[in-house]
Amino acid sequence: MPSTSNATAHVKCANNSSPNRCFAPPAESRAGRRGTAGLPARSAGKDEPETPSVGVRIVEHDAMAQGLQVPFEHELVIVRPGPRSGYRFIIAIHSSRAAQPPGRAAGGCRLARYVDPLDGLYDALRLSQGMSRKAAIAGTRTGGAKCVIAAPADESLWPLTGERRKDVLRDLAELVDELDGRYLTGPDVGTTAADMQWVYRLTPYAAGFAGGGTTDGTAVGVHACISTAAEHVFGRRDLAGLRVTIVGLGGVGERLARHLVHAGAELTVTDIDLERQALATEIGAQWIDADGAQRHDCDILAPCALGATLTAEEVRGMTCRLVVGAANNQLASDDVADVLTEQGITWVPDFVANAGGLLYAVSIARDHLSEPDSLAVVRRLGDTAGEVLRRAERERTSTLQSAIRIADQRLDLAD
Ligand SMILES: NC(=O)c1ccc[n+]([C@@H]2O[C@H](COP(=O)([O-])OP(=O)(O)OC[C@H]3O[C@@H](n4cnc5c(N)ncnc54)[C@H](O)[C@@H]3O)[C@@H](O)[C@H]2O)c1
Repeated sequence: MPSTSNATAHVKCANNSSPNRCFAPPAESRAGRRGTAGLPARSAGKDEPETPSVGVRIVEHDAMAQGLQVPFEHELVIVRPGPRSGYRFIIAIHSSRAAQPPGRAAGGCRLARYVDPLDGLYDALRLSQGMSRKAAIAGTRTGGAKCVIAAPADESLWPLTGERRKDVLRDLAELVDELDGRYLTGPDVGTTAADMQWVYRLTPYAAGFAGGGTTDGTAVGVHACISTAAEHVFGRRDLAGLRVTIVGLGGVGERLARHLVHAGAELTVTDIDLERQALATEIGAQWIDADGAQRHDCDILAPCALGATLTAEEVRGMTCRLVVGAANNQLASDDVADVLTEQGITWVPDFVANAGGLLYAVSIARDHLSEPDSLAVVRRLGDTAGEVLRRAERERTSTLQSAIRIADQRLDLAD
């Protein structure tokens, strides 16, 4: 694979052992803040990769001061344009602490259109932090990272198909390959298991396509967490007759909907893609408008679209008693966790509820379990959700704080 390291911008943290203030300014006008340039280097051995140097430039910067409002404690952040696609590729490695093999981190690749590339950076920073928490709480020892491919908002060739899509995937494979194992990529919103299988032909550092991909594992994990949380909140695991609203009927939302119908739940569903209405008809679910769907009267809300939909104002208008869903970063900001508690709404943190996809992929690809055995591992997420809810109650704290404490404890044990 040809090297494009001289085209690489922008950031690598100077010192991985302490929280850094490193930031990839996407605008050329910020170029004056950049520092030294690194040189391309390959690691000596596959098992213990050196921190790769891909022509990075070191930047001292305060991301919080830039208004990104995300804790900036990442080990490595890279931003560069894809040589074929011209899209902006952002890889954020939040933490490889306690990862096995050491120094590596895993997380999916999101492909989306962004009005402002800074929003793509923000997504990468927050999503990679979520992956670290998810890996810690699920005990996968895979670290936390994320890739965001930010296409311009006015990209008309959307959704991407054919050679254009392959060019984007070639750009991704090239960058991932240069990182030489430091980052393992996989599917996320906008990319599929089939995409990752294609990327795997170009670099070994792609996963999440074996055993049918991660979506069913994620849906099974969300279902397990809903059952445990229903016992906690409603005093019964049996979901028959409980009113559930699913927002987002994509890969995970659809599978979750089918599981819940099978369990006898009374389903209401929505998606901004009106073609998904056909699925509602097929499974006998009520269809509602996406606008205001989170405030629809129900017992359980399952956010399965994109993140940051739970703002303080939104939560104050919600009537459900339980929120458990697949979407990453559901809270607009961490303090919304306290608003949920104040409103008497129990929230299973997203990085607990949606860890099933990661657990499934790791069980299949790394631990070589069968598909049924991998799903059995995923179902144990329900126990973790129960632990999070009980601890929050015992310590009179939010479920977010409770989950973070459990994740930190597991990280300490793994160190
Ligand atoms: N796929 C996985 O294994 C996995 C794992 C962990 C977390 N997640 C997260 O779960 C969520 C769903 O993942 P997915 O793989 O099903 O993605 P997807 O792209 O297949 O589905 C998302 C769906 O949400 C819909 N949507 C977008 N905005 C909406 C809105 N405002 N209102 C209603 N619907 C809206 C889209 O039209 C789409 O149908 C994402 O946040 C993803 O990051 C997925």
